Amino acid sequence: MAKSRILVIDDEAAIRDSLRMTLEYEGYDVQVAATGQEGLALAERESPDLVVLDVKMPGMDGIEVLDRLRAMNETVPVVVISGHGTIGTAVEATKKGAFDFIEKPFASERVLVSLRNALDQRRLRDENRSLKKAVEIRHQMIGESRELRQVMAAVGRAAPTNATVLIQGESGVGKELVARTIHRNSLRSRERFVQVNCAAIPEELIESELFGHEKGSFTGATEKQIGKFEQADRGTIFLDEVGDMSPKTQAKVLRVLQEGEVERLGSARTIKVDVRVIAATNKNLEEQIDKGLFREDLYFRLAVIPIHVPSLRERADDVPLLVRHYMDYFARENNVRPKRITAAALDLLHGYRWKGNIRELRNTVERLMIMTAGDIIDVSDLPDAVRVPPVAGASSARPAGDGEAARAGTLREFKDVTERAYLVGKLRENGWNISKTAEAIDTPRSNLYKKLEQYQISQETDG
Ligand SMILES: Nc1ncnc2c1ncn2[C@@H]1O[C@H](COP(=O)(O)OP(=O)(O)OP(=O)(O)O)[C@@H](O)[C@H]1O
Ligand SMILES: [Mg+2]
Repeated sequence: MAKSRILVIDDEAAIRDSLRMTLEYEGYDVQVAATGQEGLALAERESPDLVVLDVKMPGMDGIEVLDRLRAMNETVPVVVISGHGTIGTAVEATKKGAFDFIEKPFASERVLVSLRNALDQRRLRDENRSLKKAVEIRHQMIGESRELRQVMAAVGRAAPTNATVLIQGESGVGKELVARTIHRNSLRSRERFVQVNCAAIPEELIESELFGHEKGSFTGATEKQIGKFEQADRGTIFLDEVGDMSPKTQAKVLRVLQEGEVERLGSARTIKVDVRVIAATNKNLEEQIDKGLFREDLYFRLAVIPIHVPSLRERADDVPLLVRHYMDYFARENNVRPKRITAAALDLLHGYRWKGNIRELRNTVERLMIMTAGDIIDVSDLPDAVRVPPVAGASSARPAGDGEAARAGTLREFKDVTERAYLVGKLRENGWNISKTAEAIDTPRSNLYKKLEQYQISQETDG
């Protein structure tokens, strides 16, 4: 860890020297100033982690220095020292935000304790701030497409109400993120957000998970258990993968929604709960209803506000934003240097069919940030699945560019489309300089010209 830097401002040389000695001995980096002006100049230049400040100095006194320090940097902790019997000054200094006030003459131990506390507090506050920032970033919904904006608008309308929300969409599209965003923006945001993954809990345990049980209510129930609904009282319960609940559990959940009360297994007592329910599923519940697998009445109870989160293929234009967002995010997270991505590589990511949606994109970018050796992510760094155009016959979200390869019927067409995309990529990389490109791909210039003609490629048609 870097040494903490401490600035001592005191007009008495003896005090400056003794403080310098004590503090340096303790491993601090110490600077001293004999006047207020000198101190302020040093503070501005060196931005110390802490300032020790004498009150009574000729010229600019300590209180004024404190004022100016605050104006310059409102967070640096200041420990004030002064001759004894100056209680009035102590009060004034504290009001102006001094961390501590120490009377002269002082024992060096007294100063050290105060400095440690001040520095600890500052470190905690900084950590807190960066944690909070990290959480905010982690929960950010990135995207500017019309599709995502619609989702965000629905989230905004649903959040302040108590209405039940049903979130549907493919795996990895951000259903959980939507649920958490609703809770965070609701009046219940200070209460708990309790998540239950209905698909992950074995059938025979789910009821006791959701509703709790009394001790001895069934074999294995050695202790009383509070159910998730009770835990979420006054807050929000998130029933994830709600489409995977058994009919029996569905009936019980329906009852909670209707009556607002739960019953622990093995107990006849009903307990009132005030819970907001958000449910999510990647199954098509309408279809499940048709197949008799999901109760229609429960569906209507849940889908008071239905929110459909579109797949990434339906909002492919969010891909570049997401890629950049996660490049920044993982550079910070893994403490690696930020990287750049070439237009050609970004293009391929843009055109790729993200079957695993944002989760897949996120994992891909994380891998790229860790595995790419240089500072630039290029086509050759991309996973094969992204780099190699999709097999003929498969459909693609992008009608142009790489999508054409997907629509190509014959091998000939496929080869042409692929070759064209490859050439455009290389030309872009080389700033549309024909000679450079020809050299880079090791083909005669004449051949490259022929291809440009054949595929009608020009810088103007690119875009
Ligand atoms: N709009 C978005 N911007 C940034 N990150 C997002 C966005 N949507 C989702 N993510 C991230 O993608 C990942 C998957 O999202 P989430 O877990 O919410 O998806 P899900 O729909 O619940 O998936 P599953 O059905 O598999 O449970 C998470 O890391 C989430 O933070
Ligand atoms: Mg999920």
